[in-house]
Amino acid sequence: MERKLLYEGKAKRIYEIKDKPGLYIQEFKDDATAFNGLKKEQIKNKGILNTSITTALFGYLMKNGIPTHFVEKISNTEMIVKRVKIVQAEVVCRNIAAGSLVKRYGIEEGKELKPPIVEYYFKSDELGDPLFTEAHIYELGLATPEELDHIKELTLKINSLLKTFFAERKLLLVDFKLEYGKDDEGNIILADEISPDTCRLWDSETRMKLDKDRFRFNLGGVEEAYEEINKRLS
Ligand code: TMP
Ligand code: ASP
Repeated sequence: MERKLLYEGKAKRIYEIKDKPGLYIQEFKDDATAFNGLKKEQIKNKGILNTSITTALFGYLMKNGIPTHFVEKISNTEMIVKRVKIVQAEVVCRNIAAGSLVKRYGIEEGKELKPPIVEYYFKSDELGDPLFTEAHIYELGLATPEELDHIKELTLKINSLLKTFFAERKLLLVDFKLEYGKDDEGNIILADEISPDTCRLWDSETRMKLDKDRFRFNLGGVEEAYEEINKRLS
């Protein structure tokens, strides 16, 4: 497939496909960053593992009525996706207190959050992805109130689908980050990825961290954790 690099992010590349104007290739890299690019390393096989995990999770969500950009997995590290314009607001959904929630508000790590908390972060590397509110999203023209209501509704539906899916695999879905895009018809659909890079996943019994926090906080066993998640999904 003849392709042209359109965008390179910290963990993925997006290519345009010649002769297929409505589709992109999304390629997963082994590169890992944390703290807005301050910490940078490679995690062996992360591209392969995140491709496998993301395509499995997107397939499951689509079977359950969630619209996504996923079309087809074409190699170990590549999936074909629908062309979308990414909504520049990252959506985080939290079931258990961890990460920046603990740091920002002093809530004890591991506390169950009922109902789940949905937060928005401005997708801007220069500004360091600051937490922002619905009012800021409207003022910046990133989404309309109707679109954001729909995004929140989809996020909570995805949360309950994923929580069940992971629970069946003895995993706790602590929190996760989603990105949405607008397709050529103007529909809001789920885009980007869902992987241990973008979720916190703990073993249900031992509460062992099986996600990117192992990399962020130098806990060791990073590749093994990603492998364990992939194994439990397949
Ligand atoms: P946080 O607790 O650091 O705000 O992270 C919340 C969730 O979002 C966690 O599952 C990791 C994910 N996340 C990303 O996918 N990308 C990011 O840049 C950050 C900061 C978090
Ligand atoms: N992906 C983010 C970065 O490097 C942060 C993170 O996932 O913790 O900037």
